[in-house]
Amino acid sequence: MDAMTFVLFGATGDLAKRKIFPAIYNLYLDRKLPESFQLIGLGRRKLSEDEFRSQVAQSLRAFSRRPAADESAVRDFLEHIGYSELNVNELSDYAKLASRIEEREQRFVLPENRVFYMSVAPELFGTIVANLQESGLSRVSGWKRLVIEKPFGHDLESARILNASLAQAFEEKEIFRIDHYLGKPMVQNLEVLEYSNPVLQALWRNRYVANVQITAAETVGVETRAEYYDHSGAVRDMFQNHMLQMLMMLAMQLPKHSTAEEVGFKKRKVMEALRPLQHEGVETSVVRGQYTAGQIGGKQVAGYTEEPGVNPASTTDTYIAARLWIDDYFWSEVPFYIRTGKRLAGKSTRIVIEFKDPADKFSRTNETTAPNLLTIDIGPEAGVTFQLNMKNPLNGKIEPVQIHTAVDEKDVPEAYETLIADMMRGDSTFFAHWDEVELAWQWVQPILNAFERNELPLHTYAAGSNGPEAADRLLEQDGFHWWHDE
Ligand code: BG6
Repeated sequence: MDAMTFVLFGATGDLAKRKIFPAIYNLYLDRKLPESFQLIGLGRRKLSEDEFRSQVAQSLRAFSRRPAADESAVRDFLEHIGYSELNVNELSDYAKLASRIEEREQRFVLPENRVFYMSVAPELFGTIVANLQESGLSRVSGWKRLVIEKPFGHDLESARILNASLAQAFEEKEIFRIDHYLGKPMVQNLEVLEYSNPVLQALWRNRYVANVQITAAETVGVETRAEYYDHSGAVRDMFQNHMLQMLMMLAMQLPKHSTAEEVGFKKRKVMEALRPLQHEGVETSVVRGQYTAGQIGGKQVAGYTEEPGVNPASTTDTYIAARLWIDDYFWSEVPFYIRTGKRLAGKSTRIVIEFKDPADKFSRTNETTAPNLLTIDIGPEAGVTFQLNMKNPLNGKIEPVQIHTAVDEKDVPEAYETLIADMMRGDSTFFAHWDEVELAWQWVQPILNAFERNELPLHTYAAGSNGPEAADRLLEQDGFHWWHDE
């Protein structure tokens, strides 16, 4: 792997502590970092290099999937870590940073390969990129990459403005937009499941599929993020990105070669084929929900509007369910139901493919049978379950049976590890590309408008339930129901 300098904005923040440093440390243990690797953490705080390194060491002890028990490995790792104080608005601070990086590159005769990772509030992306350009930091003789985290904008227009500001200094192929769902092993497995199983490949289409259900249920509430969440809601926080990315990965036609370009192209095709919501009306296809007080795991929890920091009159969606149609050759007439919410009965992200029933009842006994189901559990437990029908020899009745395989996730790299390693190699297959992000905003924009104008009923649901009943009716209208609800 190429030698590089990794510049981390927001290095003293929560994401760096919980995810980024533990991920890079695990890559280091797995020898997946280049020989010559230097990370410079940037933050507003005045910290000595030693103080910063001991903060990093603490975060490894607390959050690394492999305990940072080996003190000598931690010490060696920390040798690669430096710190600089930087005010993101202060151009002279960037100039100092540039001299520090250039000095090292010259001393060790390193190529000018630079990663700029923005683990900061998105409002700062534009300023930072402008200053990177102004200071010359982003003019390199090697390669440069920009890594950003969602949210990529607040709506279609702001996303376009943000993208235009990034594009001033970085080409699209240099921008790596992290959507951590794309780093989840089972999301990466979707393409493989279809590709490597001709049986599934043959069935992956409207002729055999009755409907598809994608659920991301969480038990946590708004936690300490009210300030952000109350302005975002489930539609921006989960739906526009993670949920639509899972939809794309599932519904895309298999690319001939699994390259970043081809996967990006196939995903874009899915988004282009999504039937725009105006045609059917947001009201008939979308359910908006908000949790009220209830019990989770035997514990009483507060309702959303009683949470600290939330506006007591808030109409923010903590739950959204929607019916989508992909008007292409393979998926037309198959409803895709997507839902996500906070404070639901269980934590689980899962995809269910319900296959069509046989045309007739089983002729000898006149029994109806349960549909075949392919359930793909993305997390927290990963696995695949296939439901078939068999005759029970004890009572002679046809009954559904499950064939289940759990994926052993012990020692499996975390999403951030996989994604950071891909980025370092320059592979953007499992990143969100601008076309997809823009089309996703375009698709959700009518929902954002309708929510903002309060045009949709706000259904409440008790914490610990499966969400509002209106979401059940969404499927009942089509003769279906959600599978696997608790
Ligand atoms: C984040 C959202 O992107 O994803 C959070 O901002 C959410 O609100 C989280 O809790 C869910 O991720 P995971 O991996 O726990 O399903």
